[in-house]
Amino acid sequence: WIAAAVGLAIAYLLGSTPTGYLAGKMLKGIDIREHGSKSTGATNVLRTLGKWPALAVLLIDVLKGVGAVIFARWFYPWFSTVSSDTPPTALDLQNSMPWAVCLAGLAVLLGHGRSVWLNLTGGKSAATGLGVLLAMSWPIGLGAAMVFGVALTAFRIVSLSSMLAALTAIALVCGLEQPLPYRLLVITGGIYVIVRHRANIRRLLAGTEPRLGKVA
Ligand code: G3P
Repeated sequence: WIAAAVGLAIAYLLGSTPTGYLAGKMLKGIDIREHGSKSTGATNVLRTLGKWPALAVLLIDVLKGVGAVIFARWFYPWFSTVSSDTPPTALDLQNSMPWAVCLAGLAVLLGHGRSVWLNLTGGKSAATGLGVLLAMSWPIGLGAAMVFGVALTAFRIVSLSSMLAALTAIALVCGLEQPLPYRLLVITGGIYVIVRHRANIRRLLAGTEPRLGKVA
């Protein structure tokens, strides 16, 4: 349990790395949470700081998700190998790894959305969620990314596209044969991403959600 908790804490801290906030402070000396949609995500960085910082933040936020999964896959078998007198069997790993790795996927999402360094504020975890999906099972990640691209081209509204991508991931993981822990990760993570967009949903319903290039 201690091993599991340490791994999850590390994944959470990785997600907590406040990329967008640091970009605002370093490039313009501002707190990005006081600008635009107040999110620390790449979309708000695009509005507030411009294209290149947004691209860098997007890339790093996706990599946080990828990194958490790679780290968890490495950390959990490594820990069980050294903490046990007998090395774990292949079945042990198969049974224990998915849950631990999937929980680390949720922890990194939570860290991005509720950063310990930013008084539990942060981004909406869409980019980090994409990273988790791609590292866990790239076809589902690719499906979600494609829906995001099509929706963004059609509507030019990032929040709507992110939520459609999250719903796509949920539909794919339910429709395809997938292990239970992974299914639960994608369903819970997808719902988390959508819930983090609730201010966007209110603006979408009111018809005031900005399209790409406009300020929230
Ligand atoms: O990933 C975040 C995006 O979907 C919406 O960002 O800043 O428009 O709320 P924002």
